[in-house]
Amino acid sequence: MSTVTLEAGREHRVTVPSLLSRKQRGEAIRMLTAYDCTFARIFDVAGIDVLLVGDSLGNVVQGLDTTLPVTLDETVYHTRMVARGASRALVVADMPFGSYQVSGEEAVRNAVRCVKEGGAHAVKLEGGTAVAETLARLVRAEIPVMGHVGLTPQAVHRMGGHRVQGRCQESAERVVEDAYAVQEAGAFAVVLEGMPAELARAVTEQLEIPTIGIGAGVHCDGQVLVMHDMLGLSDWTPSFVKPYANLGAVASQAARLFAEEVSERKFPDLEHSYR
Ligand code: KIV
Repeated sequence: MSTVTLEAGREHRVTVPSLLSRKQRGEAIRMLTAYDCTFARIFDVAGIDVLLVGDSLGNVVQGLDTTLPVTLDETVYHTRMVARGASRALVVADMPFGSYQVSGEEAVRNAVRCVKEGGAHAVKLEGGTAVAETLARLVRAEIPVMGHVGLTPQAVHRMGGHRVQGRCQESAERVVEDAYAVQEAGAFAVVLEGMPAELARAVTEQLEIPTIGIGAGVHCDGQVLVMHDMLGLSDWTPSFVKPYANLGAVASQAARLFAEEVSERKFPDLEHSYR
């Protein structure tokens, strides 16, 4: 296996306070999901500010239909790999379903594992008013927290699917209320997922903390995408995703060529054999 050699930049580490000043300076925050060291290194060197070890790992790595079965042990395991590959980016571990809903005490214990064992700099929780007290408790325990409101995949069954939120007045008001609740509870940033661009604009203008959008239009303070979607590795992607590469096709072509050359006994040739 060849070694990936990348020149790591000498830029300062992205920190929780530095993300806040980015909002104040009007500089966009660039966030991608990552689940292993290889891609964490590539994205880190490419200048991605935040690497999110998303519970989307259930969908794109584990092949599940929902994120609900992802476990804390799996999150810690993947976070550790990502943290090893990140020299500059802030690493955020996405707390899986069930790891912060039972009690504040259990949430702190589980978030501490993400930091101590996983090497995360911060954690992310889904939900607004419903998780505000838990979020505040984590912040009091010195664990920086990113909120996540709007379309929250862990609530897939309550929402009746992955549905855009905030399209009617009542739902839009709930999104605004949730975003305020996480800010008041001490979150340092909030993901706005699956909502009309104008609603995300209003929330972004009203909040002091940075908003990071996914399927929430261009007016957020930053943007996040699931790496498999933006690299063309997913079977299906939502319409808001822009494919920046087609790695799926490249990998498929490479595997076919390898299969052909093995069948035809063209690989390994003399150049790729020990003497
Ligand atoms: O799990 C995840 O990848 C996420 C992003 C979609 C924000 O929460």
